[in-house]
Amino acid sequence: MKAMEEKILTSGKVLPGNVLKVGNFLNQQLDVNFLTEVGKEMARLFADAGVTKVITIEASGIALATLTAQALGVPAVIVKKHFSANQSKEVYTATIDSFTHKNSYTAVVAREYLNEGDRVLIVDDFLAVGNAIRGLQKILGEAGATLVGCAIAIEKAFQGGGDALRAEGIRVESLAMVESMSDDSVTFRR
Ligand code: G4P
Repeated sequence: MKAMEEKILTSGKVLPGNVLKVGNFLNQQLDVNFLTEVGKEMARLFADAGVTKVITIEASGIALATLTAQALGVPAVIVKKHFSANQSKEVYTATIDSFTHKNSYTAVVAREYLNEGDRVLIVDDFLAVGNAIRGLQKILGEAGATLVGCAIAIEKAFQGGGDALRAEGIRVESLAMVESMSDDSVTFRR
């Protein structure tokens, strides 16, 4: 999606440690009109996949998952990063190591929201090493649901997570694929 690349070039900022800051349209402040178009594009890419649910992990994926689910006309399921008091005890969990944040957390979702026979699209803002998607893949497997693919706003292609998933036959559609970053430039894979 050319518009995503242009948005990164005009609004993104490269921080030390190969981090792309996109807080002004994707992570903290949301450019809702732009993200609505992103959601429509993600839905278009998977329009023929028979998606029954969109899934993401809180927090930054929620907006995109919501807008994509709206465009597909299906529910969005939000996987939590913490158990909460009112969380159902019947849950699926996965331990996810965050390469970027150097921590790990337990992803948790109530069993009632994922069913055998569901065809699930993973939506997220970033794909780096792919640990978050691996965790969701495990949860979907335990639920007996089918992973139809992953729709990603920004793939950091140089971190290899997307290519590893594709090599396993998983459909990964990234709207911008960052090949490399430096202080004053971002190069895309096309
Ligand atoms: P993964 O997402 O492929 O598993 O890789 P990684 O472990 O590196 O990512 C961990 C977190 O860091 C994710 O957010 C991811 O979105 C975020 N992240 C990775 N690279 C970048 C980057 O260059 N820029 C920004 N802004 N974020 C990046 P999270 O822990 O799930 O947090 P949240 O923001 O969704 O709450």
